[in-house]
Parts: sequence; C-alpha cells; structure tokens
Amino acid sequence: MSVPVVELAGINTVFGREYVHRDLSLVIGEGQVVGLLGGSGSGKTTLLREMLGLLRPAAGSVRLFGVDLQEPDQVLQRNVRRRLGMLFQHGALFSALSVFDNIAFPLRELKCLDEDWISRLVHLKLAMVELDASHGKLMPAELSGGMFKRVALARALALEPELLLLDEPTAGLDPDRSQNFVDLIGALQRELGLTIVMVTHDLQTLAGLASHVAVLAEQRIIAFGPKDQVMTVDHPFVTGFFGADRRKLL
Ligand SMILES: Nc1ncnc2c1ncn2[C@@H]1O[C@H](COP(=O)(O)OP(=O)(O)OP(=O)(O)O)[C@@H](O)[C@H]1O
Ligand SMILES: [Mg+2]
Repeated sequence: MSVPVVELAGINTVFGREYVHRDLSLVIGEGQVVGLLGGSGSGKTTLLREMLGLLRPAAGSVRLFGVDLQEPDQVLQRNVRRRLGMLFQHGALFSALSVFDNIAFPLRELKCLDEDWISRLVHLKLAMVELDASHGKLMPAELSGGMFKRVALARALALEPELLLLDEPTAGLDPDRSQNFVDLIGALQRELGLTIVMVTHDLQTLAGLASHVAVLAEQRIIAFGPKDQVMTVDHPFVTGFFGADRRKLL
C-alpha cells in the first residue's frame, strides 16, 4: 500500500485546561475526499490547522506524505508544506491586493519564477476556476461571494498541491452557487487526482463531493470510512446530522 497522505496518531490538543482532542487518530489515503463532520466547537478547524503545521498538538504526531511535521530538517519540512493547499473558513484573501496579485502571492514567495511565468500561471489558475484574465484586475471587495471563493480556491491551487484542505467551502453561498462550486471542486479533484479533507455542515456538499466521512465527536474520530458506511453508524451525532436525509444520500 502507498504511504498515507495524512496520518494523525494519538493527538491531544489542549487550550488551557480544555481538551479539544484526546488520543485522536485518523489515516487518509491518496485520492480520498474526506468530509470531516462534527459539532460547532468540536475542533475541526483546529485539526486542519494542525495538518497545516500552524499549530502543534500537545501530544501525538502529524505525518503528511510520510513526513512527520516535527521533522527537524527544514528543507524536508518546506517540501511537504508545498504539497498542500488550504481554503480557509472565512475565505482569507489579502484585501489590499488584486485578484491577480492574490493568486501570484504564493508563486512569488518561491522566488524562482520570473514575472512572465507567474503571469502565465495565474491565468492558468484563473481558467481552472472558470474565471478569465480580466478578473485579475478586480479587488477582493469587488467580487461576488461565489467569485471570492473561486479566487481563494485558485490561490490554494497555485502551487499545484496534492492535498487540499477545505474549511466550509460552500458556507455563505446560495444553493445554486454552492452546487456550482461543488461541481468545480469535484472536477478539479478528478483531473488533478487531489486528496481532499473538507469540513462541512452541508449535506449537499457532502453528498456531491465526499467519498469518505470522518466524524469528530467526544474529542476523537469516532467513525471513519466510506460515506455510505459511516452514515449508518449508530451514534447520536451521526443520526442527528443525517437524520431523515440518510436514505437520499445513499
Ligand atoms: N487559539 C485558541 N485558543 C484557545 N481556544 C481555542 C483556540 N482555537 C480554538 N479554540 C477552541 O477550541 C475549540 C475548537 O475550535 P474550532 O475552531 O476548531 O472548532 P470547529 O469545530 O471548527 O467549530 P465551527 O464548526 O464552529 O467552525 C473551541 O472551543 C474553541 O474556542
Ligand atoms: Mg471551524
């Protein structure tokens, strides 16, 4: 079997005296699209932050592509981080930078591409999210909710990641825009062979994208597996979440 893309083992996360995660483990394989479910405040965003290396758990290990994020070799660390992209819960774009410069930002950080190449790559990423070159001039405040999400996705894909982390990708979009965005992410996932970890509260998003579901409750992953299997797990969070809609999703 190939090396797991994400491997969390024995994670404890503690803020003050509060345990958010206790002995949490999760292993995600290549090409899986995992919907991460859990109540508000259960620690989903915190778990993504740990996968990004933005936050270090109090105990346990986070391995991406087989590399421990506590690995002291800086070059190895940097190479691993380049293999993932993140779409934040609140869409974070730099408000003072144009769409073009937002997408160019991670490319310029590499300090090895000239502006011609950067321009070509930015236009390619814009096309990937079905925007055109003229949108590059707009400022974030001038974008509709759906366009904003697309630009944030284009930036997350700038470095051609193999692993994409999405935090509530469709929150705040109306049902039509939400469905379009789900279709776009699904198409890119298949084309690029991405592994995705996606936090969502939205059944439509989960149904349209996820191959697998992980349920975060009681400070750990209480269920993980193919979507149809996890949906039938007998746990109050699972029955409450899927409720009467369970059958529609199968
Ligand atoms: N930097 C921090 N310092 C202290 N407490 C924190 C910090 N970050 C998160 N928490 C706490 O950890 C818990 C989990 O937060 P987190 O944002 O991960 O939840 P979530 O599952 O993403 O919730 P939501 O669905 O509402 O986005 C919450 O109780 C939150 O207040
Ligand atoms: Mg959150």
